[in-house]
Amino acid sequence: MTELELIALAKEARTHAYIPYSGFAVGAALLTKEGKVYQGCNIENASFGPTVCAERTAFFKAVYDGEREFEAIAVVGGKGGEEPSGLFPPCGVCRQVMREFCADDFKVIMGGKGDEFVTMSLAEILPASFSPSDMGK
Ligand code: THU
Repeated sequence: MTELELIALAKEARTHAYIPYSGFAVGAALLTKEGKVYQGCNIENASFGPTVCAERTAFFKAVYDGEREFEAIAVVGGKGGEEPSGLFPPCGVCRQVMREFCADDFKVIMGGKGDEFVTMSLAEILPASFSPSDMGK
C-alpha cells in the first residue's frame, strides 16, 4: 500500500469525526504488518478530557482485534467539512500509545493539502521514550 493510498483512507476516516467542540476533524489509517487497515477519527466529549484522538481510536480498534504488529499510520486533519489544511504531528499521548506497540522504524505519515505529505519514524518524533522494555517487557 502506498502512502497516498493510506492517506486516502485517513481522509475517509475524517468524515466520521465527532467534533462538536473544536470543529477540527482528524482521521487516521493504521496499517498492520500483514496489510490490514484500521481507521480512526477523533471523538470529543463535553468534559473535554475524555476526548480521544483519531490515532488512538485506530490503535485501540486494532489492538482489540488482536493486532500487535504495525507498519505505518497516516494522519490528516483540519476544519471539519474542509480539505486538510496542513501537516501536523500526532499529539504526545498518541505517540506514547504508538511506543507501546511499534518499533523505532514505525512510519508516521502526515498528510496535508492535496498530495502533500511528510513521513517520519516513531524514533524521530518520540526520542528518549519510556517504553515496554523499561518495564521489563
Ligand atoms: N486531535 C487528534 O485527533 N489527533 C492529534 O494528533 C491531535 C489532536 C484531535 C483532538 C481534538 O478532538 C481535536 O483534534 C483538537 O485538538
